[in-house]
Amino acid sequence: MTGTMKSVAVGLVLLLGACGGSKSTTGTTGKVSAIEAMGVTPPDSPWGDMSVEDKEFYMIGKVNPIMKELFTAHDVEEFAEFDCVDCHGEEMREIDFKMPAPSMYIVPPEGTPGHRGMMSTFPEMVKFMQETVTPAMGKLLGVENFTCAGCHPSASKATR
Ligand code: HEC
Ligand code: HEC
Repeated sequence: MTGTMKSVAVGLVLLLGACGGSKSTTGTTGKVSAIEAMGVTPPDSPWGDMSVEDKEFYMIGKVNPIMKELFTAHDVEEFAEFDCVDCHGEEMREIDFKMPAPSMYIVPPEGTPGHRGMMSTFPEMVKFMQETVTPAMGKLLGVENFTCAGCHPSASKATR
């Protein structure tokens, strides 16, 4: 077992163990909190050095449950079914989970009318993206300066 798999396995054991009645890892919904059980922390080995299999395992065991918790805390109705596909797009298997997924919302470059349009159409979503999603994803990958473009295609690239 690699270090990454081990730490995810420990997280899963904690999750399962917590079902047995421990109150300390229980989130506001009354379900076990993945954030409390595993923490918004980087993988044991640098993300860039991990094999695709280890990356997938880390996504399944840690990124997906923690992100689901953040997205449902933001809007439980909209994201009740939150899963891989919300970040990776419907075509995720065909494109081997390459990011940013081409089918994701295209974020216009800052300072353009498109960017101002996004700010007025999705004010709360953009705030959530800036203050919660982007920093959490950076921490979970242990990658500095993670940006919107890590998940969303940017307009400049898409139009070329
Ligand atoms: C919150 C968004 C998000 C969710 C949810 C998510 N992923 Fe990811 N995933 C990413 C990002 C971002 C990357 C690319 C990180 C990088 O290398 O820059 C990635 C990378 C990957 C990779 C590595 C691809 C490669 O070739 O490097 C795999 C495999 C993967 N994800 C599988 C999954 C699976 C399976 C799920 C569901 C259990 C999932 N992901 C859920 C954001 C997400
Ligand atoms: C970790 C991946 C990730 C990062 C980083 C990220 N987003 Fe998102 N974004 C998502 C997901 C997932 C959704 C919801 C998609 C869905 O509805 O299934 C979303 C939705 C949105 C939406 C709503 C689009 C729509 O059609 O409803 C906007 C606008 C948006 N993001 C802007 C941004 C901006 C701006 C940034 C950078 C500050 C950013 N996002 C960073 C994953 C990400």
